[in-house]
Amino acid sequence: MSKTVRIGIIGTGGIARAYARAYHAIPEVEVVGLCDIVPGRAELFGEVQNFPEAQVFEDYRDMLDSLEMDAVSVSTPNLAHSFITIDCLKAGLHVLCEKPMSVTLEEAVDMAKAAKKAERILSIGFQPRYDPNMQTIRELVQSGVLGKIYYVETGGGRRRGIPGGSFIKKDEAGFGAIADIGCYSLDMALNALGYPKPLSVTAHSSDYFGKSSKYRGNWDPADFGVEDFGTAFIRLENDMVLYFKISWAMHMDSMGSTFFLGTDAGLKCTPASTGNWGGAWDGSVGSITIYHDLEGHQTASPIPIKPHGLTLFTEKVRDFVLNVQSGGKAPIPGEQIVRNQAVIDGILRSAQSGKEVSITIPEI
Ligand SMILES: NC(=O)c1ccc[n+]([C@@H]2O[C@H](COP(=O)([O-])OP(=O)(O)OC[C@H]3O[C@@H](n4cnc5c(N)ncnc54)[C@H](O)[C@@H]3O)[C@@H](O)[C@H]2O)c1
Repeated sequence: MSKTVRIGIIGTGGIARAYARAYHAIPEVEVVGLCDIVPGRAELFGEVQNFPEAQVFEDYRDMLDSLEMDAVSVSTPNLAHSFITIDCLKAGLHVLCEKPMSVTLEEAVDMAKAAKKAERILSIGFQPRYDPNMQTIRELVQSGVLGKIYYVETGGGRRRGIPGGSFIKKDEAGFGAIADIGCYSLDMALNALGYPKPLSVTAHSSDYFGKSSKYRGNWDPADFGVEDFGTAFIRLENDMVLYFKISWAMHMDSMGSTFFLGTDAGLKCTPASTGNWGGAWDGSVGSITIYHDLEGHQTASPIPIKPHGLTLFTEKVRDFVLNVQSGGKAPIPGEQIVRNQAVIDGILRSAQSGKEVSITIPEI
């Protein structure tokens, strides 16, 4: 492989701008291709984002046929993640795919299988993992200081944060808040726990805000085809349960903290901000507190919050690029995130049927 990592960007919409900033900040990268299905969009993106050397395409398969690349980032709406990722892996490329990994569990499993077969990196775009405070939370949970963990609560909510655009369309996004911001909450809790196997789920979802003309924002209620609220009770292996709630819009300031209950201590984490778009775990950590008994006294011990720049996204991209360059591993492996997707898949099935559903993850 050449010293410079030759990259293609597939899907040059909103979040591709963050990819552009990241790739410009990483000297090991050359962006050689830009692709968007909308005519002219990749070309305009190349001009505005200053990639004069990059060739532009409307069909990613033409880009795969025409260019020598090492890797791609896939930043299309969710429904296009799986087939594009699988074709890129089959073409011998490493892939950084945006979150949520896919729409169905079956797609996620196929993506992970394709990466394994091709012996290529498949990493999923959960940049909050690069927040040092998220790392502290994981270290505390993994350290055993909480004792036997038996209950976890996670989730988040925006007071008024329905994104509109491709996010609310069933035939582009596939689902709404449960996967869009819910996948972050699930990743936060499950990653801290070491991604235990999910066993079953009972869930509920609704779309009262998205469908209402009363709360109309930058979307048309007639276009709203997904859920804006979801809640679930998830059984995990090792006698643990996870309670989850997520909302794109609500009459409340926050959906509460993420917390872990153990036999020796509890750990509570709050998001850095609430308000209209805050309160979900796609941002930063506001506080971390351990609740425990010290010398017979019930004590709350705050854990110092570490500062970090606004570069989590760039750190995610850099980690992927450096692993591609060095022949390393997926920083956030698709194979692991299949369990995140299995929970989301279970939540949607249960919400639809109104019954508890079991979760079975096929062998990868
Ligand atoms: N990690 C993050 O912080 C973050 C933030 C926002 C969005 N996202 C994720 O990124 C993805 C894209 O979100 P967005 O806000 O950029 O959406 P967007 O709708 O603004 O952009 C998506 C782009 O993909 C293009 N596209 C669609 N199908 C395509 C195909 N088959 N081939 C090539 N291009 C295609 C669209 O034309 C559009 O330009 C979503 O999965 C979303 O969940 C991640």
